[in-house]
Amino acid sequence: MKRIAVLTTGGDAPGMNAAIRAVVRCATAHKLEVIGVFRGWRGLINEELKVLDHRSVSGIINLGGTILKTGRCPEFQTKEGQDRAYQTVKKYAIDGLIVIGGNGSFTAAHEFGNKYNIPCIGIPASIDNDINGIDVTIGSDTAINTALNAIDNIRDTATSMERIFVVEVMGRGCGYIALAVALAGGCEDVIIPERKLNLEAMCHDIVQGNISGKLSWIIVVAEGAGKAEDIAQKITDMTSFETRAIVLGHVQRGGRPTAISRDLALRLSQVAVDSLLKGEKDKAVGISCGRVIMVDFETAIKKKELKIEEWYNLLKILT
Ligand code: F6P
Repeated sequence: MKRIAVLTTGGDAPGMNAAIRAVVRCATAHKLEVIGVFRGWRGLINEELKVLDHRSVSGIINLGGTILKTGRCPEFQTKEGQDRAYQTVKKYAIDGLIVIGGNGSFTAAHEFGNKYNIPCIGIPASIDNDINGIDVTIGSDTAINTALNAIDNIRDTATSMERIFVVEVMGRGCGYIALAVALAGGCEDVIIPERKLNLEAMCHDIVQGNISGKLSWIIVVAEGAGKAEDIAQKITDMTSFETRAIVLGHVQRGGRPTAISRDLALRLSQVAVDSLLKGEKDKAVGISCGRVIMVDFETAIKKKELKIEEWYNLLKILT
């Protein structure tokens, strides 16, 4: 193996830059040449490549986003797009690919790698923490802390003005951010795609709470489980209490990566490079129970198992 390529795909996540830096520096320490692919799969299709050396990744460990740019690429789901990307891989004599991204990125890497026999290793980076078989993705700790700061601030008004807030966080198909932030933020309830919502029961709790003197509520909703505005309106309709809806949106995706997100990026990137050199392919690296492991892409892209009921029960006990 002489030359590898690295790309970031899907939604950006804080810590992607730390991963790029570590991939480049670990690979060059093994005398590998590293090509940075710009704009994810689109860059592989359109030959947007640049050789990255030790110095070209200086000063990025603390930056959110990705210096390689990223995006979603429907063209890569077509045979024509994949064929063009394969031509690029052949033309530049790329011996292996390191794909930094989330569930969608690994699904694409799994298909592409197997179809064209290109060794692909995934480094999990997504704020959603939706990779199965591993504990946590790069960026999710940062996003949770960002959302938590916002919720702590909202709590001040909720308590002072005795109001109900519905706060929408990211997570189209996965309620991890919502659950984690609701627990850490001491929120009163959480609505996630993996758990059926019982709005009547929630409103009953709100009314009973009000009777016993609990006058402020923060309800976190994952974007995939409903719109904050609609839920707030329904709560007002059913309880007649004033509510406010807030959508945190993309503020959760940006910002300086936390130590946890950076550390994860550095450790996993080293293993990703080493594993490509050892001849591994079609796998993601990750941490499980504190240990670095490798998970087949096929497993990694399955729906992540979360201990929903356990977490939810704890939240309700603590409310
Ligand atoms: O990267 C994951 C994610 O942030 C999801 O939580 C969210 O649903 C989605 O990306 C938003 O994507 P976009 O930035 O393309 O609108």
